Amino acid sequence: MFVQLLAIATLAASCVYAQNSTNFTVTDVEQAFQAAKIVPDVLPSFNPTGILNVVFLDNTTGTSVNVTPGANLTREQNALRPQVFLTTNDTSLAQQTFVLAMVDPDAPTPQNPTAAQIRHLLAPGIQANGSVTSGAALVNNTPAISDFLRPTPPAGSDPHRYILLLFVQPANFTTVAPQFVNSSTPISNFNISLFAQEVGLGSPIAGNFFLTGPDANSTNSTNSTSTASGAASSSTSPASSNTPSSSMRVEINVASLTATAAFLGFVMSFL
Ligand SMILES: *[C@@H]1O[C@H](CO)[C@@H](O)[C@H](O)[C@H]1NC(C)=O
Ligand SMILES: *[C@@H]1O[C@H](CO)[C@@H](O)[C@H](O)[C@H]1NC(C)=O
Ligand SMILES: *[C@@H]1O[C@H](CO)[C@@H](O)[C@H](O)[C@H]1NC(C)=O
Ligand SMILES: *[C@@H]1O[C@H](CO)[C@@H](O)[C@H](O)[C@H]1NC(C)=O
Ligand SMILES: *[C@@H]1O[C@H](CO)[C@@H](O)[C@H](O)[C@H]1NC(C)=O
Ligand SMILES: *[C@@H]1O[C@H](CO)[C@@H](O)[C@H](O)[C@H]1NC(C)=O
Ligand SMILES: *[C@@H]1O[C@H](CO)[C@@H](O)[C@H](O)[C@H]1NC(C)=O
Ligand SMILES: *[C@@H]1O[C@H](CO)[C@@H](O)[C@H](O)[C@H]1NC(C)=O
Ligand SMILES: *[C@@H]1O[C@H](CO)[C@@H](O)[C@H](O)[C@H]1NC(C)=O
Ligand SMILES: *[C@@H]1O[C@H](CO)[C@@H](O)[C@H](O)[C@H]1NC(C)=O
Ligand SMILES: *[C@@H]1O[C@H](CO)[C@@H](O)[C@H](O)[C@H]1NC(C)=O
Ligand SMILES: *[C@@H]1O[C@H](CO)[C@@H](O)[C@H](O)[C@H]1NC(C)=O
Repeated sequence: MFVQLLAIATLAASCVYAQNSTNFTVTDVEQAFQAAKIVPDVLPSFNPTGILNVVFLDNTTGTSVNVTPGANLTREQNALRPQVFLTTNDTSLAQQTFVLAMVDPDAPTPQNPTAAQIRHLLAPGIQANGSVTSGAALVNNTPAISDFLRPTPPAGSDPHRYILLLFVQPANFTTVAPQFVNSSTPISNFNISLFAQEVGLGSPIAGNFFLTGPDANSTNSTNSTSTASGAASSSTSPASSNTPSSSMRVEINVASLTATAAFLGFVMSFL
């Protein structure tokens, strides 16, 4: 039990100390989006004014992974919803509320994306905590419209592009958005540009992306043709598996309790 608690504390510590700095510029991101054909496949144009730093916590090693645009990530690295940070010189963005989206335009395969886009995340009510000029953590204050679904490209597929986009949230978003995306809206055949148009999101102010392929040893079954179904079936909350039981908690000391509370707080705010 102590080892488990230690692991939880370590995990909590690495969450708290996730890096908020990047080694790439807005121009690097723009060029990477062009090179990967995200413009025009997903966006008609992309002129970000900020940097979206995406930090995954590897579920097996507990180490964090800072995403550089176009990075290759393993499925273990991106199993959990990432922490995100905004860096921008436009200080007017500091007081805004944002919508964060993650889409896969390559489902089931980049060659034949008949199910695309898959909506892997649609989260409104996100605000900057900290100085946006030095990388402010983006934290959520409301539940996601579509909860994070980890990448699950089907066996035999080439790696998919997973694109994260940050939009400024219009004041009427909470009343308008459910007309277009709600609990009965499939996550497949989504179109983030169309949705942005419908609800008046405008162009994304920042974005990032990574590539992930199927597990190396997965079988090339024709059954796993949809990222949607694959992702849904593996979307069980990591919170449930990592959350200590209440009986465990009564026995631990104050320091562990603090670390555990920090971890639980993290899980609650990022799932
Ligand atoms: C940023 O650093 C990572 C390794 O930490 C490297 O792979 C990547 O190429 C660097 N990006 C730029 C734009 O220098
Ligand atoms: C990602 O992997 C592909 C295929 O192995 C490789 O061609 C590409 O250079 C890698 N990209 C980065 C950014 O490392
Ligand atoms: C902010 O402005 C500085 C100075 O012009 C520039 O070097 C930096 O890349 C800018 N940062 C962002 C996120 O645009
Ligand atoms: C904002 O950041 C401060 C300082 O790091 C932290 O104490 C606080 O809990 C954060 N607030 C939220 C809502 O994450
Ligand atoms: C980001 O990093 C800068 C300098 O490294 C620091 O001043 C700032 O407080 C950090 N912000 C957050 C949200 O951690
Ligand atoms: C898996 O199946 C796809 C589609 O039939 C094929 O293109 C690919 O080469 C196969 N991959 C392997 C490793 O057999
Ligand atoms: C929502 O607000 C935006 C501007 O913020 C406006 O363009 C749009 O027409 C509004 N939509 C509805 C349905 O009221
Ligand atoms: C829910 O979303 C669907 C589109 O997926 C839309 O047709 C329907 O009208 C929405 N429901 C409500 C109550 O707005
Ligand atoms: C998404 O919607 C936009 C705006 O209506 C449209 O131009 C674009 O072709 C659509 N993309 C896909 C992949 O259907
Ligand atoms: C994949 O299969 C090889 C050969 O059977 C094995 O050595 C390797 O550990 C497996 N990798 C994973 C991630 O299961
Ligand atoms: C595909 O699924 C069907 C029924 O769901 C099953 O009978 C079949 O054995 C599966 N094929 C493979 C290759 O897994
Ligand atoms: C994370 O790791 C734990 C422990 O190994 C495992 O039970 C859980 O299923 C993993 N979660 C995900 C989303 O992979």
